[in-house]
Amino acid sequence: MITLTELTKAYEDGKALYEAMLEDHEAAAFRTTEEYGSDPVNTVSLGDNLDHMMYLLKEKDMAGKIQLIYVDPPFFSSGKYQASIRLESEILGKSSLMKLEAYDDNWSKGMPQYLTMLTARLFAMKELLADTGCIWMHLDWHGVYYVKVIMDQIFGEANFINEIIWTYKSGGSSKKSFAKKHDTLLVYGKSRKYKFNPLTEKSYNRGLKPYRFKGVEEFCDDVGWYTMVNMKDVWSIDMVGRTSAERTGYATQKPEKLMERIIASCTDEGDLCADFFAGSGTLGAVCEKMGRRWMMCDEGELSVSGQIHRLGKLGSSFKVERATCDSEGSLGYSMSGGLINLISYKAAMPVGLGDYEDELRRYMNEDSLCMVKCWSAGRLDEDGVHRADGVFCDSWGINEVDGFSEDISIIGYDVFGRRVSGMPE
Ligand SMILES: C[S@@+](CC[C@H](N)C(=O)[O-])C[C@H]1O[C@@H](n2cnc3c(N)ncnc32)[C@H](O)[C@@H]1O
Repeated sequence: MITLTELTKAYEDGKALYEAMLEDHEAAAFRTTEEYGSDPVNTVSLGDNLDHMMYLLKEKDMAGKIQLIYVDPPFFSSGKYQASIRLESEILGKSSLMKLEAYDDNWSKGMPQYLTMLTARLFAMKELLADTGCIWMHLDWHGVYYVKVIMDQIFGEANFINEIIWTYKSGGSSKKSFAKKHDTLLVYGKSRKYKFNPLTEKSYNRGLKPYRFKGVEEFCDDVGWYTMVNMKDVWSIDMVGRTSAERTGYATQKPEKLMERIIASCTDEGDLCADFFAGSGTLGAVCEKMGRRWMMCDEGELSVSGQIHRLGKLGSSFKVERATCDSEGSLGYSMSGGLINLISYKAAMPVGLGDYEDELRRYMNEDSLCMVKCWSAGRLDEDGVHRADGVFCDSWGINEVDGFSEDISIIGYDVFGRRVSGMPE
């Protein structure tokens, strides 16, 4: 619950926070620590997204450069969200499915604190958006009505384009209410010149029979006869299922089909798209498949390491930027005859693993390399950037690398999302 006075104050506080950060001449220091592939234009960033957007505005001259911003923040649900992992070892087989904390959607100071957080970020996003760009804000009933008021204020009511209802089958059932089975996406243009590519969908004929109207093209599939019509604002798309190939294990992962529609409707090939609450990296993965450039930011290590893994698997070229760069463990390796052999993984066990601790310790002791999620071998440049051709996700036993000498650099990510670096053994 929030009063109208509190709503106004939350907006004013968010605006003041954004303006103060813009004035504060010291932009947050993000730096590139890794580059994968040749000439990467895409980025994965670890850190708070307001800091990151300030860095883009002040250090990277990115104002007005982004065509699409997709925002899928915590929904003010009072929930804690997890990422599932399952270790795979040749010695011990598959572990049980373990859940690690990914992010928290609890706000000690309630809705005003949440809205202040979003308001500051929405001002920064507006600045980053191209004149022809669009912003998509993905929320549900918890906060969407308050955020609509705030977005009308920031982007202008005249720039409101659509309220998309995304409806799905899973979750939301109750004996005391109708089942809550939709999210709401608010769409705004930066200006009335926004780019929009109309999409179409099937509309089945009454009785599923052909109408044979003059000049109307009709089609037939397994269900029956239909025409193609302009897409409506209610989208029925399944959530990412438990057995779906696109499932990463990151809670609240959004389906690629949803992202495909968003990207197709307001960008063209080569356009730059951004997600500053990127989670499992769905926006980047779909941009990669659709030939768009992308940038993603998240403050969670599990999220960012998951994005590196997901985009690495797609063979994408990208940079990794971060505000702080600590390696929290080591990957022991040996080199001979152009072969790199990962031998061991060593790191302290994170705290708070609860029931999973004994099992994880057993896997760590008996087959430590199964704790490594992905890794890469490359060179460390004078500027301290690890440059590699790609990320290895499925094989971390042996890899052949040509022409590497003393400046070899090995970087990996463990199943807890921590960055680990190579040590010759
Ligand atoms: C709902 S999830 C995004 C899910 C994503 N769309 C996907 O398909 O996987 C929200 C994400 O926002 C991140 N987040 C929350 N506050 C943030 C902040 N201030 N800066 C950066 N990331 C933040 C969380 O860590 C979480 O991963």
